[in-house]
Amino acid sequence: MDITATRIWKDLQQHKTVISSKVLTQLFDGDPGRFDSFSLEACGLFLDYSRNLITDETLDFLFELAQKARLAEARRDLFSGKRVNNTESRPAMHFALRNPAGESFSVEGTDINSLVHKTLDAMAQCADKIRNEQWLGYSGKPVKQVVTLGIGGSYLGPKAVWEALQAYQSTALKMRFVANVDPSHLGKILSASAAKETLFIIVSKSFKTHETLGNAHIARQWLLDSGVPLQSIASHLIAVTANTDAAREFGVEESNIFPMWDWVGGRYSLWSAAGLPLVIGLGKDNFRSLLAGAHAMDQHFASADAPVNMPILLALLGIWCNNFLGADSHAVLPYSHAMRVIPAHLQQLDMESNGKSVTRDGSPVNTATSPIVWGGEGTNGQHAYHQLLHQGKRHVSVDFILLLKSDKGYEEQHTQLIADCLSQGKVLMTGHAEADIIRELTNAGMSDKEAKELAPHKVIRGNNPSNTIVMERITPETVGALIALYEHKIFCQGIIWQINSFDQWGVELGKVISEEIYQQMQHPDQINPQNDSSTNGLIAKYFKYNKLT
Ligand code: F6P
Repeated sequence: MDITATRIWKDLQQHKTVISSKVLTQLFDGDPGRFDSFSLEACGLFLDYSRNLITDETLDFLFELAQKARLAEARRDLFSGKRVNNTESRPAMHFALRNPAGESFSVEGTDINSLVHKTLDAMAQCADKIRNEQWLGYSGKPVKQVVTLGIGGSYLGPKAVWEALQAYQSTALKMRFVANVDPSHLGKILSASAAKETLFIIVSKSFKTHETLGNAHIARQWLLDSGVPLQSIASHLIAVTANTDAAREFGVEESNIFPMWDWVGGRYSLWSAAGLPLVIGLGKDNFRSLLAGAHAMDQHFASADAPVNMPILLALLGIWCNNFLGADSHAVLPYSHAMRVIPAHLQQLDMESNGKSVTRDGSPVNTATSPIVWGGEGTNGQHAYHQLLHQGKRHVSVDFILLLKSDKGYEEQHTQLIADCLSQGKVLMTGHAEADIIRELTNAGMSDKEAKELAPHKVIRGNNPSNTIVMERITPETVGALIALYEHKIFCQGIIWQINSFDQWGVELGKVISEEIYQQMQHPDQINPQNDSSTNGLIAKYFKYNKLT
């Protein structure tokens, strides 16, 4: 179905012309109960969506759009383990990773719940052994540093949760996360590490990703060069992968290989054995609380009616901003240093899931799909890119994430943080009109002429939408619920755009071309003359600089 050819889509386009004449501040002036009407609580999160350019009629249209896209049926298919990832003929069952033990859930004859909990128990045992200093390296000393090697979903999710839950981190273990094949990152860590106490976790669903394998080879050689006997190297290596043969061939002992399944997408895998570093660094109870928070959001998403369904609301509001109000991008701005990596995880989650241009049946999509998702910690952004948000020519939809309580005391500074977050949402909405600016400048003693010259430079457009997601404090449960909220939001948007959110064919060609160029960079004679002159010109610079010609 071409969703843009439906009547409801055209009704929304028509409705947009009506809404475009509305002013957010007037919508608030006209409805003292607007905040209460357009906010929702679920799973420890509070969503204030009143600062969107919407009316009840807008929401009714959007809910009708969801019905037209058969969102409820798609949701049922997802949770029943249907092969919703149609191009790879796979289910997408990241939700099953957080189902409680004993909840019977079998798909195509496999008892998924038992598989998940058998692995969770094995992860807990491994983590306890390390946390209790019973995992010994080759010299008989307990490991004290865990270096996780992984990229994309094998890195961003675990890293984002690790930083967000800084208050729960083990102080006895050094936990490191390395993704880039740029050897300067891992090299810096190794130069300050002792092999006898260092354990590497290689997280790669395919066990083919060259960045991760490149780092894994550096790590393995470093262990050997540091005096670890070949026959003892296995006590310093763990693998998390769907490709156990490749892990074994690399030298990881069978008992140190944890499974990843093809029914969990990489960017949805932090809840799986890819989260092993979290179990080690945070402890099994906190990891289970993280899963519980996500499970609560799963249940909410699976059961709540659209008008009181947080993922569906966020998804529809995003469609309204992205596809109708013309937002160029979407910013996620957590007002929390600990949550600074969350936007990067959501970037992959959203852009790798919905950065598509054909529908599930291969037809062209005739509207924008995933927005450009970006973000960063507040208040830092106010001193970096908020200028564009307030006075730029581009429209950006914004999700603020706000914590009511600091996990470190210092209440005065935390109150300032909250005030800053609330100020930004307010200014995005109210703006600053030229007439008010002139009056303020002249009241302050500036001449009328000077005030009129300066005022246009100080005008703030305003009428910009934003959501504010509030949590009392950062806990494993609220972090789990937050990430699951976005996972389901992204799923809902994919259904409305009629796309497959669970494959990522777009990244495959780059990997092939990279390998071809890498081979050509082994020797000038290997260069392919068919390459464009930019590629060959740049390779020639490499050869010249490295004195290979
Ligand atoms: O970017 C492509 C991708 O396949 C991601 O989807 C995935 O999270 C990442 O690379 C790492 O893949 P793997 O876990 O197989 O190393």
